[in-house]
Amino acid sequence: MNTEREQQLVAALARLPRVKLASVLPTPLEPLTRLSAALGGPPVYIKRDDLTGLGYGGNKTRMLEFSLADALRLGADVIVTGAGVQSNYCRQMAAACAHLGLELHLLLRPIREVDHHEVQGNHLLQRLFGAKCTIMPDGDPDKQGQAILARMDELRQQGRRPYWPRQAGTVDIDALAYAESALEVVQQSREQGISPAYLYLAALDTTQSGVVLGLKYVESPIHARGFSPFEKWPQRFDNMARIANQGAARLGLEIKFKASDFDNDDSQVGERYGIPTPQGLEALRLVARTEGILLDPVYTSKAMAGLIADIRTGKLAKDRPVVFLHTGGSPAIFGYAAEVLGV
Ligand SMILES: Cc1ncc(COP(=O)(O)O)c(C=O)c1O
Repeated sequence: MNTEREQQLVAALARLPRVKLASVLPTPLEPLTRLSAALGGPPVYIKRDDLTGLGYGGNKTRMLEFSLADALRLGADVIVTGAGVQSNYCRQMAAACAHLGLELHLLLRPIREVDHHEVQGNHLLQRLFGAKCTIMPDGDPDKQGQAILARMDELRQQGRRPYWPRQAGTVDIDALAYAESALEVVQQSREQGISPAYLYLAALDTTQSGVVLGLKYVESPIHARGFSPFEKWPQRFDNMARIANQGAARLGLEIKFKASDFDNDDSQVGERYGIPTPQGLEALRLVARTEGILLDPVYTSKAMAGLIADIRTGKLAKDRPVVFLHTGGSPAIFGYAAEVLGV
């Protein structure tokens, strides 16, 4: 740990354009006493990024503070983006756009059959926050990308200034928000007198890039262990290194990342992205019933299943705390009600 570098990171982040969207920062770091006892492993702590605020909170609130500041800086007057129908990102984006008075177009990919017609969970909220939603005919991400570009062209022809966030040249802006969250974990651990060995998280790419950037820059001994929600995506390690390097360059930090800096496990994905697993659902129910905290069926429950599996196989020393980063997503449970309750 290096407090001088912590100050450098704080100062570098403070130079980025930012709009205030979060209600609660820093988010709390809390012990999960009853869950830890039930698991019989190390003390588990939770970093409550599900409590950031903005349309039920989650990891995207921090990211949108930076990425929408970039959009506004460039004079954008309409945001166009897309993901899965039950996307947490799109739900939080819709809340942020409502808050900032920006028009939002969402082109959403169905992941399950029910996504073609059901308006529930995150999708209900996207509509409630006023996003103009289009459900794509199928789950093909290439077609979705083309549809987003076509929509942006249409908007430009109407004299509008559309912005598609989180693209190759800008995704590091989102990631940098997680260098800040990681820094909070380092500082809160010090204040609470704990020395966590691991930070577990659900991570596709952006969140973990930022977390590792933050931890490595301040020379923290905390090891970030991510669990991917996506099957068969070996490029994710190179991708995370690229995003972290781009983010470090944006901040002017002298540090380099390589693929091997990222521990990201895809053993909890199950059938495929967006389909809950028995282990994830067991984890979701256990956390709900021991702590009164809601995980989500697609990301955090699978990461918690990974943590539980590591405890059960004896990977984790019992005397070193571990931190679980709760990246949010709980509104999705309403879109997966039958699976969540196991009925
Ligand atoms: C609840 C939740 N956790 C984790 C992630 C992974 O975030 P990222 O794609 O930034 O790695 C997401 C992505 O949408 C999410 O919704």
